[in-house]
Amino acid sequence: MCGIIGYTGGSEALPVLIQGIRLLSYRGYDSAGVSVWRDGTLHVRRDPGRIEDLAPNWDPDTLAGTTGIGHTRWATHGVPNRVNAHPQPGGEGAVALVHNGIVENDLALRAELEAEGVEFASDTDTEILAQLFARAYDGDPVAAARTLLARCRGQFAVAIQHHDLPDTILAVRRGSPLLVGLGVRENLVASDLRPLVGRADRVIELAENDIAVVTPTTVVVHDESGAVVERAIAPIDHAVRDIGKDGYPHFMLKEMHEQPSRLYELVAARVDPEGTTLRFDDLGLDDDDWRRFQRIDLVGAGTGFHACQYGAYVLETLARIPARAVMAHEYGARDPVLGPDVLVIAVSQSGETMDTKVALQPALDAGAATLGVLNVRQSVIGRMVGGVLDMHAGPEIAVASTKAYTSMLTALLLLALKAAQARGRTQETLQPVAQALWELPAAVTRALERFEDAAQAARDIRRADHMLFLGRGADAVTALEGALKMKEISYIHAEGYPAGEMKHGPIALISREVPTVAIATPGPWRERMLGNVREVKARDGEIIVVATEDDADARALADFVLTVPALHPLVAPVVNVVPLQALAYETARLRGCDIDQPRNLAKTVTVQ
Ligand code: M6R
Repeated sequence: MCGIIGYTGGSEALPVLIQGIRLLSYRGYDSAGVSVWRDGTLHVRRDPGRIEDLAPNWDPDTLAGTTGIGHTRWATHGVPNRVNAHPQPGGEGAVALVHNGIVENDLALRAELEAEGVEFASDTDTEILAQLFARAYDGDPVAAARTLLARCRGQFAVAIQHHDLPDTILAVRRGSPLLVGLGVRENLVASDLRPLVGRADRVIELAENDIAVVTPTTVVVHDESGAVVERAIAPIDHAVRDIGKDGYPHFMLKEMHEQPSRLYELVAARVDPEGTTLRFDDLGLDDDDWRRFQRIDLVGAGTGFHACQYGAYVLETLARIPARAVMAHEYGARDPVLGPDVLVIAVSQSGETMDTKVALQPALDAGAATLGVLNVRQSVIGRMVGGVLDMHAGPEIAVASTKAYTSMLTALLLLALKAAQARGRTQETLQPVAQALWELPAAVTRALERFEDAAQAARDIRRADHMLFLGRGADAVTALEGALKMKEISYIHAEGYPAGEMKHGPIALISREVPTVAIATPGPWRERMLGNVREVKARDGEIIVVATEDDADARALADFVLTVPALHPLVAPVVNVVPLQALAYETARLRGCDIDQPRNLAKTVTVQ
């Protein structure tokens, strides 16, 4: 979703801004732009399209200057075109402003400004911020920024330039994250860490309602009242430096192949090889807490929600605690019954997803215990929750989540084991599951070695318009995740269903033109899954089955078999999704889709 970069220092701003935009691209965007101050004028270029195509047309002479701001826009208010792209002008070019987030009272503010004679060029809420700032500015940028905070509702992170203020960027933060990077005689503003790495060595994370006035040699932070405040300065984590594709054609493929090592790291951090000792002292929950909880609610979105469904399943099965998964955006709406005996777990790769952040609020208000299963500890959600279970997936760049998903499942299964142990489940019940977790890295490696099987199946289904994915028990969620991967990156309409539901409606869709994928690995539900496979065959449907290597029944029934090693049925969903990731990847590749940045999607959804 949208990204912000700003630079002020001794170098030309344009190359820094273009590089920043490149590094922000992974978030997903449909237009980009820059503004550079020179000789009392803000020179702006902005266009729809990808930075690779736009940057060659941004003339370095016209855009010469050492202070500027840049932006990647993911359209919310108005189509992706030049006039709606950022920076948005205010006060007939006196102001250039870039914005992440949403102004919720935009219509009222627009009407008010129009009544005062302001003519809007764009459909954006961002132009309202730019015009409001321009009208409020009378030589004091902090006072004008305070007007934005006072008048606008919603979440917004903005970077602003004013033509009267050479070498100056104003950064204002409410709701959406915003950082100030500190370098040597140069400073930067950015919505996440990536564009800062390599230029800045320290970072200030602006707090809620902060206003920062940034020049090449000074950073002064004010709170909402205008008072100057001190904010902590942290060293930049250079681990995020130089994230490349390591020779893979796509980040998604690279990230799929990172799964074995990521899972090893996660399992090794939490359980011993014998599967007897679980280490969870860092979560702020002790055994009494696990015994006291009457219910666990898991909230997340997209792939995170699928992980929540799996988490609820294993928590209930192993730890015998009532647990449910709720889509984050629906959680507040149902007015959940909450109190100190409820644990609410937010599952999010980025830790920034607005829906998930908002879902946590009622839990915090009611004094419920909270936990984040996160890939970014230092994130908005990371700071809200009582404890963080780090999923150890490492930076995930491809929009379609792969390694974060398998890490989420594994982290939740480890947590369920911990809860089960604290609640007195026997070692005989838990140890086989814990030991099976250690088999995951090798099992996922083996599933990845069978990539060519997925490629073959993909050649067959590449022209399909619709697909069905079916699974049961713990693998019902694998069906949902497989369908999501397929629709996200190949744009084939794919439905995921718990297979028991098939006879209640979806079976009407079965035909030769609608391929079905069925997950039928060993476990209490395998026989019934094979029953579903037969039902598809009987209706002349094409069928791809995920099965173990020795499964003769599956081979006899299926058009294609995607094989995985046999694992404990509660652990198997972690490996069973791997061939479905591969199937989606290969299908998208054959269809010529933009695999890492699928159309309309953003990596991090920072608006509700
Ligand atoms: O960062 P989060 O895990 O909170 O993101 C939630 C969803 O937006 C995300 O999982 C989305 O569904 C992915 N594109 C799935 O591949």
